[in-house]
Amino acid sequence: MDDLKTIETELAAKIDAAANLEALETVRVETLGKKGRVTELMKTLGSLAPDERKARGAALNVMKDAVAAKLDARKATLERSALDARLSAETVDVTLPVRPIAEGRIHPISQTIDELVTIFGEMGFSVAEGPDIESDDYNFTRLNIPPEHPARQSHDTFYLVGENGQQYGNVLRTHTSPVQVRTMLAQKPPIRIVAPGRTYRSDSDATHSPNFHQIEGLVVDTTSTMGHLKGCLVEFVRAYFEIPDLRYRFRPSYFPFTEPSAEMDIACTRGGGELKLGVGDDWLEILGCGMVNPKVLAMCGIDPEKYQGFAFGMGIERVAMLKYGIPDLRTFYEADLRWLKHYGFLGIDVPTLTGGLAR
Ligand code: DAH
Repeated sequence: MDDLKTIETELAAKIDAAANLEALETVRVETLGKKGRVTELMKTLGSLAPDERKARGAALNVMKDAVAAKLDARKATLERSALDARLSAETVDVTLPVRPIAEGRIHPISQTIDELVTIFGEMGFSVAEGPDIESDDYNFTRLNIPPEHPARQSHDTFYLVGENGQQYGNVLRTHTSPVQVRTMLAQKPPIRIVAPGRTYRSDSDATHSPNFHQIEGLVVDTTSTMGHLKGCLVEFVRAYFEIPDLRYRFRPSYFPFTEPSAEMDIACTRGGGELKLGVGDDWLEILGCGMVNPKVLAMCGIDPEKYQGFAFGMGIERVAMLKYGIPDLRTFYEADLRWLKHYGFLGIDVPTLTGGLAR
């Protein structure tokens, strides 16, 4: 039976030498296949005398089992190292920055406009637009701010002048409210719009910029009430600041284009140089609002006997500064790349109400 030991050693060496699964399969066929080494040896049993056959057969079976076990073991080893090789070849370093989009940033003003439009869009508002250069009539008069009205002074208006140096009735819009006028003149109620955009006032310090942004809201139909205004704005501030139980208050105020008018404040805590929103005994003014003045409806071609509505307006920089902790208004316009890298947003930070509004 020594020949069997020799053959087994030889086969074992071949199995060990198989460098991969294909090579091992070849060895298996050569050993246990139909014409394999061991199979051929089995075939010789028939020609042996019964006693000899028994002993030889038992020895052959032991050798066959040993070789089969060795084949299985080698197969498992090769499979494992094939998997390891594949895993290390396909490794993805998830800590690497997402290169193509990491370079650019969405400006906080653009991101905030997207957030505001997303929230009001979800409530059924559509977006309306108007030009930056606006007529005195739309910017003031039809909003119930006639030429002699004192509210004109408070707007620090940029009046445009013609070639002859004379004013000709156009201004850089001082607020987004003229988009209300344009919408009412162009559309029949029910109206439900928001109008984000650039606005201008001749004023410049840490909290005022000659160019800034506002968003305006307008709802007009037959049954709108102050209750709807309140529900809409409470829903809005809670969604925007992502504070579900955010505390707020409405204070009586005055705007020529609304009657009654109010300002909305949200609760805050100031202390230790930190501002915390939503809780506390201090208040932060967020926006102006009110029921559309019937005179404004009439001047914009809408019958105040039949229709009523509410409106609101707020500063976009202001709500962006509050939400994202941006301390100085002027930095918005300095185009400082370090600032943008810090406060800007990635292109994939698309605001959604389900996925979160930002980051
Ligand atoms: N236009 C106002 C401003 O620039 C903001 C505002 C207040 C708009 C009340 C409104 C409103 O529509 O109802 O200060």
